[in-house]
Amino acid sequence: MNARPLISMRGVKKAFEGQPVLRGVDLDVFEGQTFVLLGGSGSGKTVLLKHLEGLLQPDEGSVMVDGHELSAGDPAQLDAVRREIGIQFQANALFDSLTVADNVAFPLRELQHLKEPEVKARVDALLALLGLSDAAALFPSDLSGGMKKRVAFARAMALRPRVFLADEPTAGLDPLTTETVDEAIEVAQKQLGVTAFIITHDLPTAFRIADQVGLLFEGRVIEVGPPEVFRASRHPAVLAFLKDWLEREANARA
Ligand SMILES: Nc1ncnc2c1ncn2[C@@H]1O[C@H](COP(=O)(O)OP(=O)(O)OP(=O)(O)O)[C@@H](O)[C@H]1O
Ligand SMILES: [Mg+2]
Repeated sequence: MNARPLISMRGVKKAFEGQPVLRGVDLDVFEGQTFVLLGGSGSGKTVLLKHLEGLLQPDEGSVMVDGHELSAGDPAQLDAVRREIGIQFQANALFDSLTVADNVAFPLRELQHLKEPEVKARVDALLALLGLSDAAALFPSDLSGGMKKRVAFARAMALRPRVFLADEPTAGLDPLTTETVDEAIEVAQKQLGVTAFIITHDLPTAFRIADQVGLLFEGRVIEVGPPEVFRASRHPAVLAFLKDWLEREANARA
């Protein structure tokens, strides 16, 4: 089971102006699984994600997403992949002048040209799944931070992507709201069977939603394993990351 990696990176290197950021990333995300990538600020998480979206090409190595080789920057491959991935951006990027329902319907109308009854059925089902049915007619400015994140997630899922990518889907939320967003992602992920790659520096999120966790450290993804294995790691970089996180949490609460 789960033998096929839908996302796979081999020996990916990327430098900016001679400064290496990725120094040989190897990564596999298996079909139907959720992989959570942890890493310190500036460690290169967003740079890595941009390779999976085809927004950056590696200096060396290969990037495969659902059978498409992205490292060459071939426009046909990029187009094909972009139709199969759903992306949740850090800043949500919701349309302020559209209601919640119309935000979620947007890709269905613009990219898939679905008939209205089909659009409505899909939007209603997604909003129900994410606990947003009562918010359908509201505008983004009426929503709490956690609701906005869930709407952005619903929109990313509207096209029923095979792959879901997210950069810090719970950044800036309080712990309780984070939990509701995590739960929404988890329920939708399991029901829709999507393969997810999620970046966060929030440990509770990582341990709640991940099948596999890894740490981006010195340009490589290290200590990949299920949450309970990762937590028990004695790798100095993992220990330092866990310690940092606990200290930051303690400061935030003080
Ligand atoms: N287009 C670019 N040109 C030059 N340097 C870049 C570019 N994009 C990223 N970098 C550098 O790459 C490094 C990694 O940046 P990245 O944004 O991937 O970090 P991150 O792990 O996502 O950090 P954070 O947790 O703060 O979001 C940083 O030193 C950044 O300045
Ligand atoms: Mg980042």
